[in-house]
Amino acid sequence: MKKLTFFLLVSLFTFSLNAQVNVLDIDAAGGKNQINKNIYGQFAEHLGRCIYDGIWVGKNSPIPNVNGYRKDLLEALQALKIPVLRWPGGCFADTYHWKNGIGSLADRPKIKNVFWGGTVEDNSFGTNEFLNLCELLGCDPYISANVGSGTVGEMVDWIEYMTSDDDVPMANLRRKNGREKSWNVKFIGIGNESWGCGGNMTPEYYSDLMKQYSNYAAMYGGDKFKRVGCGSNGNDLNWTKVMMERAKNNMDGLSLHYYTIAGEGWNKKGSATNFGEELYFSGLKKALFMDELVTKHSAIMDQYDKDKRVDLNVDEWGIWTDVEPGTNAGHLFQQNSMRDALIASSTLDILNKHCDRVKMANIAQIVNVLQSMILTKGNQMILTPTYQVFKMYNVHQNATLLPSNLICEKYQLGDDQIPAISSSASVDKNGKIHVTLSNLNPNKEIKLEVNLSGNGFAKINSGSILTAAAVNSVNTFEKPETIVPVAFKNAKKLTNNKLEVSIPAKSVVVLELE
Ligand code: AHR
Repeated sequence: MKKLTFFLLVSLFTFSLNAQVNVLDIDAAGGKNQINKNIYGQFAEHLGRCIYDGIWVGKNSPIPNVNGYRKDLLEALQALKIPVLRWPGGCFADTYHWKNGIGSLADRPKIKNVFWGGTVEDNSFGTNEFLNLCELLGCDPYISANVGSGTVGEMVDWIEYMTSDDDVPMANLRRKNGREKSWNVKFIGIGNESWGCGGNMTPEYYSDLMKQYSNYAAMYGGDKFKRVGCGSNGNDLNWTKVMMERAKNNMDGLSLHYYTIAGEGWNKKGSATNFGEELYFSGLKKALFMDELVTKHSAIMDQYDKDKRVDLNVDEWGIWTDVEPGTNAGHLFQQNSMRDALIASSTLDILNKHCDRVKMANIAQIVNVLQSMILTKGNQMILTPTYQVFKMYNVHQNATLLPSNLICEKYQLGDDQIPAISSSASVDKNGKIHVTLSNLNPNKEIKLEVNLSGNGFAKINSGSILTAAAVNSVNTFEKPETIVPVAFKNAKKLTNNKLEVSIPAKSVVVLELE
């Protein structure tokens, strides 16, 4: 009996010692899959102050602008290297009739945005304005077509207007509107959330409708663009199953929407800034659920499409909190804290690791709505902590994912726990290795050993870190640079294959090894 107790104690001791060892093994020569740059995509909906007053202020605005686009915002977005931008919605897309948004401004009818606060819009931002914006940003346009309240005819006219260079009516209408050459539209979404705001459909009904729309989209657009079918609401695996079973040959991508709600549910989402450790923890835990979700949906897709021809596109994701006090509830304007930064970094790590199936993701949304890159107020603009994460992470765009294995301690709160570290690694076309690391524990610095196998590295080229005084710290219009990346010095090269990193509490680190 004495012997057994001794053995148990030794095991427990060894286990607790082991639990403190944090090791990341990276196979530096084993990369197979490319991290599609479109995983770093964005989403812009006609919602609140995203388009009007966010991206678009109009040519006559006192706010400095380039042909109506906010100049400061344009420059900040250009620096972000956005690969793809989804528009015009969201729920708005299934109410949008594109012909209202073309031609001379005086002739464009006003419309009521029935989904988002009943706001009346003057339609000054339409197809030309969106596609020209994509050209200015150097990103691919992702158009969400109206299936809920539109027609196949309306969609194919739109496709012809945007993509045809023939002598045909819609291309000629575009020419009349001042644009000679077609735009390079790369993605067409066939409806949005057709299980909900996009028409309350069953997957069986939607898959038939999707085939009809998709058929004509291909007829008019050829293979110029990829057709994205509406996918599941979070965990609805049956939706994915039915879509793959019945319509896999009619789409090039299937979407997935998943929002992080830190609080108890849609009616108790919790504040963006006024939260304690419990809501911080649950926000992170729910964001990490993305891994399980993508794994499950991918497994279903694998059953029907083992060659992975159909992409999984997580074309809406991010944290959704209560709106900022005193703002319009229908406009979804929320602040953005260090918690958002860690949700962004850990989600991007997850999506990187699923890059064999996930080829696109679009965080919601680009400016002034949900987990934004940018917030504006009059002529002021701030870059959010989430913006900084996207900028730090853009080194992964189109790089090759390096297989890795992380053994790390847990961040424990009460009876619950999550892994304390999130990470991913890639090698770019110049042979530079980038490792992204986040310490999700807000209370403790963590030491991590990083081992490279296959290839070694000669030096740590650079490192940067994003952290803050508290997990609910934010950038404000008064103090816009509270949370910005700075140089990171706490990484030590031990040998050509080994590295030791001390990751401060609640921080995101990017290292470049060469
Ligand atoms: O991003 C806000 C809304 O969330 C989108 O319009 C809709 O698709 C989703 O429910």
